[in-house]
Amino acid sequence: MTDPLGELRVLVVGYGLIGRQRAQALAELPGARLVGTVDPGVPDPSATTGAPHHPDLAEVEPEGYDAAIVAAPHDRATDLAAAVLQAGRPVLIEKPLGVTVGQADRLAQLAGALPKPSFVGYNYRFLPAVRILLEGVCSGRFGRLRNVDLLLGHGGHPSSAEGWKLDPVGAGGGVLLGAGVHLLDLLLTMAPAIECTDVQATRGFWPTGIEEDVVATFRREQLLATVRISHIRWVNTFRVELVGDDGYAIAQGRGGNYGPMELRIGRRWAWSEPGAGSQSETEERSDFGSENASLRDELAAVLRAWRTGAQPVGPIHPATMAEGKAVTALCEALYGRLP
Ligand SMILES: NC(=O)c1ccc[n+]([C@@H]2O[C@H](COP(=O)([O-])OP(=O)(O)OC[C@H]3O[C@@H](n4cnc5c(N)ncnc54)[C@H](O)[C@@H]3O)[C@@H](O)[C@H]2O)c1
Repeated sequence: MTDPLGELRVLVVGYGLIGRQRAQALAELPGARLVGTVDPGVPDPSATTGAPHHPDLAEVEPEGYDAAIVAAPHDRATDLAAAVLQAGRPVLIEKPLGVTVGQADRLAQLAGALPKPSFVGYNYRFLPAVRILLEGVCSGRFGRLRNVDLLLGHGGHPSSAEGWKLDPVGAGGGVLLGAGVHLLDLLLTMAPAIECTDVQATRGFWPTGIEEDVVATFRREQLLATVRISHIRWVNTFRVELVGDDGYAIAQGRGGNYGPMELRIGRRWAWSEPGAGSQSETEERSDFGSENASLRDELAAVLRAWRTGAQPVGPIHPATMAEGKAVTALCEALYGRLP
């Protein structure tokens, strides 16, 4: 049977770690196909992808693709995404949306002029435990939120400082703009009006001058939150703890070398219910294993939006340009306060 929406032709710009994973996800998802890759810094992968490779985006005719994924170093990504949008094509740009609010604004404005929506790659929303947790916040399952604690620690490796990711020019910052924006995105998804009360950082283990260990505190009425991001933690760690008046959720792990993803959900004083047993015996526990399919699941939602032209609805959706801009604005505000 022919697909009534037609097959979507997707260009991948930047064929490094994430570009390759997005291309692989495209091969697994229905309704779309990889139509080309662009990257000046990798050997031609067309023999494995089956799609033409270009060293420069300027060589690709806009008529040859319907949408693009931009997965390039932060100092190139804004101009690359702008070129795609100016060619009239929607984009999925890997986080962050611009290094500055000015860049985020520019991209959001260009995207807003197109009929199809563009998105920012904040795939942590699509981790299964995070998804359940966010749905719970949206439905009020935990009651009024009192605590949110988000922790992301990266072990790094001896040559971490050689790439662009810890280079303040290539990356535009350190751990805040690197991995930290994922946590800021989750925090804003749970508490959009929360405000920063303090941020502390240390530097100096890596010789590039970036902030490498950050703790930030936030408050909104009775909600207190912390965000902790580190590139000196030696063991990869991802943890989200959330406490409301009526219950709590604890998510840990991210799959892969962050360990299996597990989720515990509990109700306040459930131990006191007749025959309940201990608090831990009353918890709902889920183990999502070691696979991390969040990039693929996020892309599936993006492809649906591109094919139908509609913004996705519901609590778990790919980050819109407005949401991406809000994360960049919060990140910029934190940089403004960094010691
Ligand atoms: N969501 C996540 O979990 C996650 C994880 C890692 C990185 N990222 C994001 O993905 C993006 C890419 O990161 P990565 O880890 O894939 O980096 P990477 O260094 O592995 O790949 C980037 C690629 O971009 C290429 N490139 C450089 N200039 C280019 C240009 N002008 N045109 C096309 N390609 C160009 C480089 O040659 C390189 O192959 C960044 O925005 C990063 O923050 C997201």
